Amino acid sequence: MKIKKAIIPAAGLGTRMLPATKTIPKEMLPIVDKPSIQYIIEEAVASGIEDILVVTNRAKSAMDDYFDYHPELEERLARAGKHAEVDIVRRTADMANIFYVRQKETKGLGHAIWRAKHFVGNEPFAVLLGDDIMHAQKPVTKQLVEIAEEYDCSVVGVQRVSRQAIAKYCTLGVTPVRERCYDVTKLIEKPRPDQVISDFAILGRYVLTPGIFDILESLPAGYGGEVQLTDGLNILCGKERVMAYDFIGKRYDTGNLKGYLEVVVDFALEHEEISDWMKAFIKNKAENL
Ligand code: UTP
Repeated sequence: MKIKKAIIPAAGLGTRMLPATKTIPKEMLPIVDKPSIQYIIEEAVASGIEDILVVTNRAKSAMDDYFDYHPELEERLARAGKHAEVDIVRRTADMANIFYVRQKETKGLGHAIWRAKHFVGNEPFAVLLGDDIMHAQKPVTKQLVEIAEEYDCSVVGVQRVSRQAIAKYCTLGVTPVRERCYDVTKLIEKPRPDQVISDFAILGRYVLTPGIFDILESLPAGYGGEVQLTDGLNILCGKERVMAYDFIGKRYDTGNLKGYLEVVVDFALEHEEISDWMKAFIKNKAENL
């Protein structure tokens, strides 16, 4: 099994980040000096992915503009001798082969993935949620790809979350295989307290086999009236092996205000040009609070 394709579902409405996301896609909100989607694409590329399909909607065309050339801007920068800046704006358009498909109705993550059926064909593929930014030494998608290639099956990226937090995610029944690796036996989306099976939740990264598409095609709407990928995976794990990998790295949910601010501050503290300024700024603030 070789994983060369990825899907980035980015057609959600971003209601937790209003009013900022009324006209700007949440994936285009900057994290220090780059829009958040760029970090996701960089992770995919660093994981060996060559072709990326972004699932968008009618309000998100800023994303395809961002990954295109901008001849007028490049020419203006070149004339001013700003060649480093020309490289920066060019590089965003040359990072990978990026394709787009629209989800015409916001019918849920499972439906968004299903829109990628023709792009994917009969190959395994990675999924990177546009909201979830990872900070990891080895890219999280690469960690999952390695396990999927070794065991020749679907792999979901999981971490332990608190009992209160799990209600926002999904809960998984798992049996251990080896360190950090589990077989998945059952999944429940947004579990009630009496439904929680383990404290593992899927956090924004998957490698899936194309078997998921036949399931999604006829899957009825689940929690919240949306077609839930979790419900599809619950059926998939009854038909073929699905593993969970407890990935190494920190995950930020940039789809809510606290997670977004957290990643902006953390990444600014590591940014080579502004790290020192940011540290001094925070120290000064803390002393005066
Ligand atoms: P979320 O529920 O976290 O994102 O979906 P959202 O719907 O944009 O957020 P809120 O709750 O309104 O603030 C998880 C992922 O699935 C995508 C989202 O873009 C996000 O990356 N998604 C969700 C779709 O692509 N299509 C959908 O119909 C729903």
